[in-house]
Amino acid sequence: MHGLAHDDPVYVAVSTYLLKGLTDKDEIAEGESCVKCHTPVGYVSGYPVRTSDDRQKVADIATRGIQCDYCHSATGALKMENNGLVLAPGHGESDPGVKRGPYKDSKSDFHDSAFSEFHTESGICGTCHNVSHVSFGTKLETTYDEWLKSPYNSKDKNKQITCQGCHMIQRPGIPATASTRRPKNPGKASDDGPDRDHLFTHYFVGGNSAVPGLFGDKVKGKMAVERLQNSATLSLDTSRFSKGRMTVRVTNSGAGHYLPTGLTDVRQMWLNVRISDERKRVVFETGHCNSEGVLSSDSVIFNTVYGDGKGHPVSNITKAREILKDKRIPPLKSSHETFSFKPVKGKRYTVSVKLQYRSAPQELVDEVLGKGKTVIPVITMEHIEKTVQL
Ligand code: HEC
Ligand code: HEC
Ligand code: HEC
Ligand code: HEC
Repeated sequence: MHGLAHDDPVYVAVSTYLLKGLTDKDEIAEGESCVKCHTPVGYVSGYPVRTSDDRQKVADIATRGIQCDYCHSATGALKMENNGLVLAPGHGESDPGVKRGPYKDSKSDFHDSAFSEFHTESGICGTCHNVSHVSFGTKLETTYDEWLKSPYNSKDKNKQITCQGCHMIQRPGIPATASTRRPKNPGKASDDGPDRDHLFTHYFVGGNSAVPGLFGDKVKGKMAVERLQNSATLSLDTSRFSKGRMTVRVTNSGAGHYLPTGLTDVRQMWLNVRISDERKRVVFETGHCNSEGVLSSDSVIFNTVYGDGKGHPVSNITKAREILKDKRIPPLKSSHETFSFKPVKGKRYTVSVKLQYRSAPQELVDEVLGKGKTVIPVITMEHIEKTVQL
């Protein structure tokens, strides 16, 4: 996703769409700020500096998103939001500068190398993974802040689990979340380099199982699904079923930040709850998508909703002056959801509860990319089923 940050069709479409029809200068300022993170090499080297700059004129190197040289030229961060990275990139091929990373003893024939504590800390990720509205200050993404307050940010550095500790250990078949093992990945970082006890993997997989595949990648979509399926646990309390009530508990057991995190006004994580009788007739259901992929309005959904400052919800984040709703689950915490229905005495029911995720609502993708162009997959993160005899 880092390499695709500039080309990601969902990003390209959304960033163009948000700017349409804006007249307020504060809203325009936010809409024009995307390139700072999505085309960072271009931004620091002078083009593009605004989202609306001509994409055709962007230098080839800058179209490659957040790339090797960008991260490995960082020396620190000025602030923990809106990309405050400080860079020392050198001066082109003849003077490539110092590349910084986690080893004290790395040597290269191509560039100087130096140890950088900063690269071993969550802060190198946090400066981009905290996004605030440039004019109103509204918190739009807070992944780093969520981690900072989490139990994974232990004062004892040996016990601390950084962003890298989950996201740069994952490899195919090894989801590396808080609820799974996170085994080391020994090997050599370069052909004639020394043996290392762990090589940091650079898949940088989150929840996005759709976009890498659009670029022919066959591995990362599957890894995103494995990650999501090791993020949460579900439990079901049916002790009050005869009174027409039951409670579902959703626990964030795997993520080092809120579940979900990132741009959670767009991401959707919700509960699909279905009760059926002996004849398999559905007597109660909430949280299902219709044939167009639109989620029913009664769904329990874990997301954020922004407002215009007067209490009205807005879907265009450039207009986000306030947070109206933030229903997400902090690390190792649970959310309890109660459902009501009308049971009939003497009957036997099957209850199915699914926790589901998709990176964007289908109707949004249809609107910005064109109807039927891209189908956003719905991932079942967890599923439990129980039979209740009344
Ligand atoms: C988003 C930032 C980012 C990008 C992009 C990135 N790296 Fe890294 N890289 C890191 C961090 C952070 C570490 C060290 C992690 C730690 O110590 O916790 C690292 C570690 C390394 C190491 C040390 C050896 C190892 O594998 O552990 C090498 C070599 C390396 N990166 C090369 C690359 C190359 C080549 C690319 C491009 C294909 C790249 N990196 C892209 C952030 C990045
Ligand atoms: C304890 C393990 C763990 C740590 C630590 C951790 N993550 Fe995650 N991360 C996960 C899991 C599991 C998921 C998948 C569930 C989800 O999407 O939230 C995830 C998902 C993500 C996503 C995708 C969110 C989405 O749905 O769009 C991003 C971005 C991300 N992490 C960034 C970070 C950053 C930045 C840090 C450090 C500040 C970090 N993570 C620390 C486990 C971790
Ligand atoms: C220069 C800014 C920048 C830095 C530094 C950075 N990221 Fe990201 N990251 C992004 C952007 C932008 C995206 C989303 C690209 C897209 O979706 O088009 C992203 C995407 C991701 C995703 C995939 C999210 C998904 O929905 O699947 C993960 C995981 C992630 N970053 C983790 C990290 C970690 C861990 C670090 C630190 C080692 C880090 N990032 C450093 C900007 C950054
Ligand atoms: C401070 C850095 C930063 C800035 C500025 C920024 N983004 Fe992002 N963007 C991110 C990160 C980090 C992610 C990944 C979070 C996740 O996966 O949940 C992301 C992900 C996205 C995605 C999700 C793409 C997908 O495939 O699901 C969209 C869309 C997006 N950004 C649009 C924008 C727009 C539009 C702007 C400007 C108004 C913008 N971003 C400005 C950091 C930034």
